[in-house]
Amino acid sequence: MRYSSVIGVGKSIVLIGMMGAGKSFVADCLRHRTGLRLLDTDEIVASKFGLSIPEIFAEHGEKKFREAETEALRRMQIEEQTIIVTGGGIVLRKENVEILKSQTVIVWLDADEKTLFARASRKLNRPLLQTKNPRKAFSQIHDARRPLYASIADIRVDTSVLTDEEVAVAILAKFRRMNAKEKSPIQAKAS
Ligand code: S3P
Repeated sequence: MRYSSVIGVGKSIVLIGMMGAGKSFVADCLRHRTGLRLLDTDEIVASKFGLSIPEIFAEHGEKKFREAETEALRRMQIEEQTIIVTGGGIVLRKENVEILKSQTVIVWLDADEKTLFARASRKLNRPLLQTKNPRKAFSQIHDARRPLYASIADIRVDTSVLTDEEVAVAILAKFRRMNAKEKSPIQAKAS
């Protein structure tokens, strides 16, 4: 976990985590509770291409998707406090991580792998799981990404047994605690 001594109330909030972590649903709950605007990198990329995410992967390939994902982050005007939803692969590019680290509070929505996979495979809209063995593919992606999420997160919430509303409440409570600690001269480690 990253040490966060400068969590300002006005900073944007980004949700990271695996497919199935519930980022979009939780972001919606956060938006209702805070009134902040919401931006979603997948939605921005999809509207840029005029295609769904599976169609972009099928017609243009993952590389073009990743480029557009980075471009979406670069162009986001996140000086205005914003809730940002990212695709699970946002942590794969150093530039993405740098943008997020410098401009946002990073919230990692985690869960046990079985739960994440069960949620992620409910819909057939995850191109990376359209393989002969989606469970294995998911496990490989999960193993590769977990350390990346862990290394950049300011806040981690285990969503395994929580509803989306409960996750949003937990995030806001952690924010309040971090903001209180910020006013203290003692630097606290985010948990
Ligand atoms: C991806 C996750 C997806 C989407 C794309 C790639 C990934 O978003 O960006 O299919 O690499 O994990 P969700 O995390 O919202 O499913």
